[in-house]
Amino acid sequence: MHFLLSALLVSTLAAAVVSAPTPATNTTDGDVSISSLGSNILYHWEVSHLPTSVSQLQGPLHLAGSIDADSNFAIVSDPISKQSSNSDRVLRTLYPAHSYSGSKDKHSSFISTPLPKEAFSGPKSRFIRLEYLMLFQPGFEWIRGGKLPGILLGTEQGCNAGCSGGGSAERCFSTRMMWRPQGYGELYLHASKSVYFPREKVASCKRSLDRRSLEALLKLEQQRIDALHIPEYDDEPEQGLGLDESFQKRAINPEHEACLKGLRIKTSPGSLNMCNPNYGISIGRGGAFKFQSGKWHNVTQIVRVNSKGDAVRDGYLAVYLDSQPVIQVQDLILLRRGYDEVQDPASRQVKFMFSSFLGGHDKSYQTPKDQWIAWKGFKMSTSLENIWE
Ligand SMILES: *[C@@H]1O[C@H](CO)[C@@H](O)[C@H](O)[C@H]1NC(C)=O
Ligand SMILES: *[C@@H]1O[C@H](CO)[C@@H](O)[C@H](O)[C@H]1NC(C)=O
Repeated sequence: MHFLLSALLVSTLAAAVVSAPTPATNTTDGDVSISSLGSNILYHWEVSHLPTSVSQLQGPLHLAGSIDADSNFAIVSDPISKQSSNSDRVLRTLYPAHSYSGSKDKHSSFISTPLPKEAFSGPKSRFIRLEYLMLFQPGFEWIRGGKLPGILLGTEQGCNAGCSGGGSAERCFSTRMMWRPQGYGELYLHASKSVYFPREKVASCKRSLDRRSLEALLKLEQQRIDALHIPEYDDEPEQGLGLDESFQKRAINPEHEACLKGLRIKTSPGSLNMCNPNYGISIGRGGAFKFQSGKWHNVTQIVRVNSKGDAVRDGYLAVYLDSQPVIQVQDLILLRRGYDEVQDPASRQVKFMFSSFLGGHDKSYQTPKDQWIAWKGFKMSTSLENIWE
């Protein structure tokens, strides 16, 4: 009897998962749809048609503030599409000549909070999915690398806010991506420093600001890194990916892999994973994970936050490039105390962290000329079940 009942329950659940609805395709212009099937509730946001001007982005992108008219954002028609229609508008970020993370230029950044707070909640782990389409200008010069958007969850107060370089990331994590020399890709993960780098100090900071703009957070990231006097060699190979022998040596230095202990990581052959307490954990750098310029790419991330408890290793993160799996990490701790950390409703807000610039923290990253990247097809969802793969 018991067996029958549980078998019934299981099959009901399985049916629910299998027949999960595909998200409504015409929730246009940033609406959020909520659909439920069995115990699963799917919150879904997507922007299929961008507005005509940057100042109108605030609504569909659910931004806390508006984007400055003099930012390096622009709305343009799809630079490589033959037809033209409304849905062809794209967001374009400009990287002015000589710009990099530390330059005075306005970086292209926003934090988007499209999903309601109840879209992520305990007591069961929830999946978060992010998707965006991205086009590097034909002939894009990769230089040494740059940041790409990802998911951000949780908040930290004071000087560790931001879940980025040098911070403690005890109560938050971010899953930004990066491009590297020659267009190689990587996942640039910031998660609990006390878990992954137990012996590292956390950057001290003099000011304490609680409500920051992303721009302020990025400046702070820079200051923290400066304050820690990070030597340059810690970060990148000089000669492109995997070609520089001294980099290879550093990469196989056990110290550079200590943070990866306990993780089950699948990446493409030839890629590297590296631990850097200040610049985050680089996962799946290079190998088959490579961007091309002049081509629309689809970047999709699926994350499950680890369960409640102290450092429970059951988090999950997958990255797809153009529907091909490029990174999968299991037994992951994203939040030190799991989703319990986000019981505070204010911290439960799932964020789309859009920050893109060249860097790296020094001038060797700067672009010699004006360059752009175009973006469209922003989508974000949460679900109790992983219904996407
Ligand atoms: C959604 O798409 C259907 C079919 O294309 C159309 O009939 C309907 O008006 C659309 N709804 C909205 C809200 O755009
Ligand atoms: C992007 O890739 C994901 C993962 O494979 C896929 O589910 C999605 O449909 C793709 N989106 C587009 C617009 O092709």
